[in-house]
Amino acid sequence: MPAEFGMIGLGTMGHNLVLNMADKGFTVCGYDRNPDQQKRLAEESAGKPVQVARTMQELVDSLTIPRRIMLLVPAGKIVDAVIDEVSPLLQPGDILIDGGNSHFTDTDKRIERLTPTGIHFTGMGVSGGEDGARSGPSMMPGGSAAGYAELKNILEKIAAKTEDGPCVTFTGNGSAGHYTKMVHNGIEYAMMQLISEVYGILKNSGGLTHSALQAIFTGWNKTELQSFLVETTAAVLAKKDEETSHPLVEMILDKAKQKGTGMWTSQSAMDLNVPLPTIDVAVSMRYLSAMKEERICAGEKYPLSKNNTTVNQQELIAHCKNALHFGFLISYAQGLQLLSAASAAYKYEINIAEIIRIWKGGCIIRSVLLNDLQKAYQQDAALTNIIQSPVFQPVFKQLQNDVASLTILAITAHQPVAALSASLQYFIAYSTARLPANLVQAQRDYFGAHTYERIDKPGSFHTDWN
Ligand code: 6PG
Repeated sequence: MPAEFGMIGLGTMGHNLVLNMADKGFTVCGYDRNPDQQKRLAEESAGKPVQVARTMQELVDSLTIPRRIMLLVPAGKIVDAVIDEVSPLLQPGDILIDGGNSHFTDTDKRIERLTPTGIHFTGMGVSGGEDGARSGPSMMPGGSAAGYAELKNILEKIAAKTEDGPCVTFTGNGSAGHYTKMVHNGIEYAMMQLISEVYGILKNSGGLTHSALQAIFTGWNKTELQSFLVETTAAVLAKKDEETSHPLVEMILDKAKQKGTGMWTSQSAMDLNVPLPTIDVAVSMRYLSAMKEERICAGEKYPLSKNNTTVNQQELIAHCKNALHFGFLISYAQGLQLLSAASAAYKYEINIAEIIRIWKGGCIIRSVLLNDLQKAYQQDAALTNIIQSPVFQPVFKQLQNDVASLTILAITAHQPVAALSASLQYFIAYSTARLPANLVQAQRDYFGAHTYERIDKPGSFHTDWN
């Protein structure tokens, strides 16, 4: 029986997506150049409509026309090597999907390269990790609308579902899919950093025990903070180390690694002149965390003076909850403003409300807050930033003082809350009509004759300051 879908790359994500498709009744053919991965799929898919190809040619020959083939191989040169190998075996109308975390500019180059061949190239972000791939990810395909029409049925069947439908949509032209996934990851970095800061304050300033912390995150996951990442935090906090019986998280070295997608978000935002300091800080804090030896050395040079501040635990917990709520919203605000700006700059034609809809299930940044975000963009598709939306005005007004109190407490106690305070400072600056940037303009004109605008009349002015 010919297969309806081909998968190249049978690592965890590819393997699980194949099984997911097979469970939904699709006949799938998988190929990996590593015979061990071929064997693993053959064994674990016994009784399912799954075939395993031993060569690329065998995979291509097994497929119905137009062929639908997904690549789930590490981002970078390997993607190009696989495209070079498979594309000569394909024909016009076939669809190649890159489901990895490729940089959007690479996706643009690949589209450009494949367009003359008539092969549709779909750059698709896939979120949800290995469990998501197996039981329902959120998927962000972009590129060729004609290519998507051939994929829609399969992707909708394997996607996570919410009351708002399957978590997949055609995101837009060109590299829109990979751009959207990159922004998703930037928001992911920010949310994770915010959670870690709140955990740090509760533990170090609040003196909360590990089981109390676990109960707090579990409780928060039943409130407006309900989200995959808060749920994950509660689960992580519950885990004991088998060797020492200590909470496992306390045995883990405080050096956070990264594969670079958060950094790409910050880099791209800089290119497009979009401020997203919470995401920038989240990326920087991963670098800072990695500088463990330097931190130890500096810590010895600047020992903490005794902090006599007394902390009211219940008040601290309430402030932390509101600060996290605030920080999450600001992370989404910054990411979505970048996505709108990129859509305009790169002609992606992204529908932001629709992206929010597909982030409501399956992906790492899913949360109940997305319901209101969706509402805000449905009310105003041209919304520049959710801070401007009537949906969020009462929320920001209510939360901001608690974030300020918490930030002050943390700074006084020498607790790093870089992402929380960046979120608050961003909000303050964004909602300040007159910033001291007039002075910056004056300085630029003083030493570089860069000119300035005036508040009382149009035009460009230069002053001989001396
Ligand atoms: C997802 C994730 C995933 C990402 C990891 C690791 O949406 O499923 O974003 O794609 O690769 O979370 O990212 P870092 O190694 O950069 O932290």
